Amino acid sequence: MTEQGLALHHIGVSFGGLTALDDVSLRVTPGRVVGVIGPNGAGKTTLFNVVCGFVPPQTGTMTLDGRPFRPRPHRLTRSGIARTLQGTGLFAGLTVLENVMTGASHTARAGLASAVLGLPRSDRDERRLRQHALDVLDTLGIAGHADAAPGTLPFAVRQRVGLARALAARPRLLLLDEPAGGLGAEDIAELSELVRELPRRAVDPCAVLLVEHHMDLVMSVCDEIVVLDFGRVVATGTPDEVRDDPAVADAYLGAAVDEATA
Ligand SMILES: Nc1ncnc2c1ncn2[C@@H]1O[C@H](COP(=O)(O)OP(=O)(O)O)[C@@H](O)[C@H]1O
Ligand SMILES: [Mg+2]
Repeated sequence: MTEQGLALHHIGVSFGGLTALDDVSLRVTPGRVVGVIGPNGAGKTTLFNVVCGFVPPQTGTMTLDGRPFRPRPHRLTRSGIARTLQGTGLFAGLTVLENVMTGASHTARAGLASAVLGLPRSDRDERRLRQHALDVLDTLGIAGHADAAPGTLPFAVRQRVGLARALAARPRLLLLDEPAGGLGAEDIAELSELVRELPRRAVDPCAVLLVEHHMDLVMSVCDEIVVLDFGRVVATGTPDEVRDDPAVADAYLGAAVDEATA
């Protein structure tokens, strides 16, 4: 049986003499939301960058749907992986709908440029792309903003647009980097609800890997949580298991004490 989803096996990364990730193994299967948490400097961003192909690991291997996986950032979408960017990363000169269309443009033969410019040869592609993007916007409850410029929308809506763009690529794996950053408590509650439902809202069953500093969000949306401290996995389990794990309290308390005495 092939193993569905993404698996990391004994990943190690060091920058000079500093070990950022040490023997990290984890698995994300379709339909599940897995969260990676840990105090500042624990290695969360490095882990995210390894999966995106920005940082090649010195040790360990990855597999995607059971096959060896060596990510290249520019080919990520083709590999079935979509990610959202911190601060949403939307194109200011495109409408919401066009932004979401860029997410799926690798599926259109004529390419995005001609689709957005409306060149005749790409008419059918463009209509298909446009409809798909509208469907995704509708699923996320923001179809009403399709023609708006992203800059005119509140941050929480722009963030939904970012998610829509990622989902438009029909990913097998969705990577979310600190989605709660910059959001207030109310928006975080709304985001929690959204992320929890993401695997089901995707066109095909999708796995979600969430890297997040914000404990409440992770606790409320994840099926499984991996806790990093100094680049090592110090706990793995359900939110309840992780909440009661003394190693997790140690990691966060240690970091809090460091910050207080720094
Ligand atoms: N490009 C880099 N060069 C040198 N050190 C780095 C680099 N990226 C991260 N680090 C170090 O690796 C460790 C893990 O960092 P990071 O993955 O950013 O942690 P987190 O996202 O959990 O805060 C930190 O000690 C950080 O200073
Ligand atoms: Mg980080």
